[in-house]
Amino acid sequence: MKAVILRSLLRRSSTVAPSSSYLLRRGFSSESEPERKVAILGAAGGIGQPLSLLMKLNPLVSKLALYDIAGTPGVAADVSHINSRSEVTGYMGDDQLKQALEGSDVVIIPAGVPRKPGMARDDLFNINAGIVKSLCTAIGKYCPNALVTMISNPVNSTVPIAAEVLKGLGVYDEKKLLGVTTLDVVRAKTFYAGKAKVNVAGVNVPVVGGHAGITILPLFSQATPKANLSDEDIKALTKRTQDGGTEVVEAKAGKGSATLSMAYAGAIFADACLKGLSGVPDVVECSFVQSTVTELPFFASKVRLGKNGVEEVLGLGPLSDFEQQGLEALKPELKSSIEKGIKFAQQS
Ligand code: NAI
Repeated sequence: MKAVILRSLLRRSSTVAPSSSYLLRRGFSSESEPERKVAILGAAGGIGQPLSLLMKLNPLVSKLALYDIAGTPGVAADVSHINSRSEVTGYMGDDQLKQALEGSDVVIIPAGVPRKPGMARDDLFNINAGIVKSLCTAIGKYCPNALVTMISNPVNSTVPIAAEVLKGLGVYDEKKLLGVTTLDVVRAKTFYAGKAKVNVAGVNVPVVGGHAGITILPLFSQATPKANLSDEDIKALTKRTQDGGTEVVEAKAGKGSATLSMAYAGAIFADACLKGLSGVPDVVECSFVQSTVTELPFFASKVRLGKNGVEEVLGLGPLSDFEQQGLEALKPELKSSIEKGIKFAQQS
């Protein structure tokens, strides 16, 4: 059952080339895979718990460190009973952060507060910015070579904050800091498949820009398989993808934000990072990274993942007029979110 769930989970990582499934075909034998430690910071939260479960199912992980300020012993005990490869340890509180991080190859950060109905992403800024700053300071000290995958919102600002903190410690490597925008891709694929009436398993849609509201720019003109959708349909799909987080926040009515779909997306992205580290060729995912694709210093686009993290930031490809307009419209907001992050890191 476990293998079936995991295989179908990983098969859906459809921006990853088919060749990358070879690791799975090699089965679950621990001897055939390198040792990899993954740390999840915020592991007892709404995203953290299902993400911990999904990473426990990943055969590429040998050690899973679950860190939070509270609740991790229970989550770790629970997840550790699952009969998959990795050894799970729970770490709680500042005193144990060093141990949680040491030796990590990949650090996933879903720590922070989620959005409540009526709350703009920016309202989260001050709390989450402080959390990300302190966690990244510890990462810079205890596992400076790890790939850092940032889930904590607002990603448009938390990634620049992380970059500044790591720069301040002299350990910043732009190949190793990645904002997780996979949920935008997951949503774009799902909504497109529904509208185009095609099998979602074969759908690909790049999503570029940033990770909030209009900064999320799905490129439906590049979606495959091709479908003859009207301009109105494309507009509606774009808006629904941009507002996907709000749709879930409102439906949960005060009981949280997108946790399950985010955990799925985070697990897909971490799996792609692990495959890249293992040398699987042509692992491509969208991510918010340091970039020269536009004039902005950080931007989400397709990236090729490899043994050192981001091996190549890929360009945007041909855009429709509607997408070109969306690109110009998003730049001022994305620029100011990036600057806000940098300013916070430098001043606080
Ligand atoms: P939650 O409140 O359920 O969980 C957050 C967890 O972080 C809690 O367990 C809390 O104890 C922990 N935490 C707080 N401060 C910490 C610290 N200093 N060190 C370690 N852990 C700490 O929130 P949820 O729903 O899991 O969301 C977490 C974050 O993910 C939020 O910032 C949310 O906005 C973001 N998010 C990002 C998405 C994306 O697509 N990138 C999608 C959905 C949410």
